[in-house]
Amino acid sequence: REPALRTFAPQHLRVGAAVDVKALNTHEAYRKVLAREFSAVTAESAMKWGQLEPRRGQYDWASSDRLVEFAVANGQSVYGHTLVWHTDLPAWLPRDGSREELRELLREHITTVVSRYRGKVWAWDVVNEVLADDGSMRDTVWLRELGPDYVADAFRWAHAADPQAVLFINDYGAEGRGAKADALYRLVGRLRAAGVPVHGVGFQAHLRADTMPPGMEQNLGRFAKAGLRLAVTELDVRVRLPVTEKKLEQQAGVYRRVLQMCLDQPACVSFTVWGFTDAFSWIPGYHRGYGAACLYDSGFAAKPAYTALRTLLTQR
Ligand code: G3I
Repeated sequence: REPALRTFAPQHLRVGAAVDVKALNTHEAYRKVLAREFSAVTAESAMKWGQLEPRRGQYDWASSDRLVEFAVANGQSVYGHTLVWHTDLPAWLPRDGSREELRELLREHITTVVSRYRGKVWAWDVVNEVLADDGSMRDTVWLRELGPDYVADAFRWAHAADPQAVLFINDYGAEGRGAKADALYRLVGRLRAAGVPVHGVGFQAHLRADTMPPGMEQNLGRFAKAGLRLAVTELDVRVRLPVTEKKLEQQAGVYRRVLQMCLDQPACVSFTVWGFTDAFSWIPGYHRGYGAACLYDSGFAAKPAYTALRTLLTQR
């Protein structure tokens, strides 16, 4: 086996990548790099409710099962993303149904998905992006119809379906100090004080090459001190186009600093990049004027960011 990121990572740290299952099924080079470099995978979209149950009561497990099979065949862990979100919901979901009907649908969805992958998925993003940028509860169909207790319910239902799974709350924009990070810290504290099985916090870390979140190390540290596992769940570092060598070096520095923080925190158990090749990155379509956010370029050649991570891991 060629030396790769997964070879040099410490035992307790899963080094993962989000996977576009279409790319997995169509590109040999994609499969090769994914299997060689990463000890964990996350479904970029395949385990979202809208992808899993496009028609009520008719689950389509083809893509998610394919990813789990690939992971098992390559000795990789599977990180489940995501049980409760306000995006990529099935079109058939009643947005104004009765509270009890919607709550029962959510319970059934969580129970169905977590049960199917019990023992195969080591961790779940039980809820994703439940906070607004100002730290208030995000105004979603779940909050409106079920009230704030939907978060605790989701964690309890997931835990009942797989008591072994490590359960995370996942969000963006809470990596560094600020209102959202403070709100997330308080929310997790309240949930755990109420006995809700929240085991970890996922920091998406969709970052830019020219800046770092302020006070990220201290922020991560307080969550670790509170007894939570930490996960960097969706790291990518977008570059303002056009790409230059200097910008790629800047990007490498951001990747390296985030991995260093994860290595410095024993509570950090997962470091996942959101896609590993520029060929399939979500960034250009969602952040106009930015791109080149991944470790490998669109021709699957390693970029300075990959080398920076590999060097950091080999020098430990
Ligand atoms: O699978 C369908 C396909 O059948 C259809 O032909 C095609 C055109 O409509 O759409 C395909 O689904 C797309 C899906 O990606 C799979 O490629 C959805 O339209 C598209 O909205 C979806 O985008 C994903 C987005 O989440 C919304 O689910 C991005 O790839 C993915 O990178 C992004 O990831 C999110 C995390 O889940 C949460 N954190 C933020 C992050 C970036 O937005």
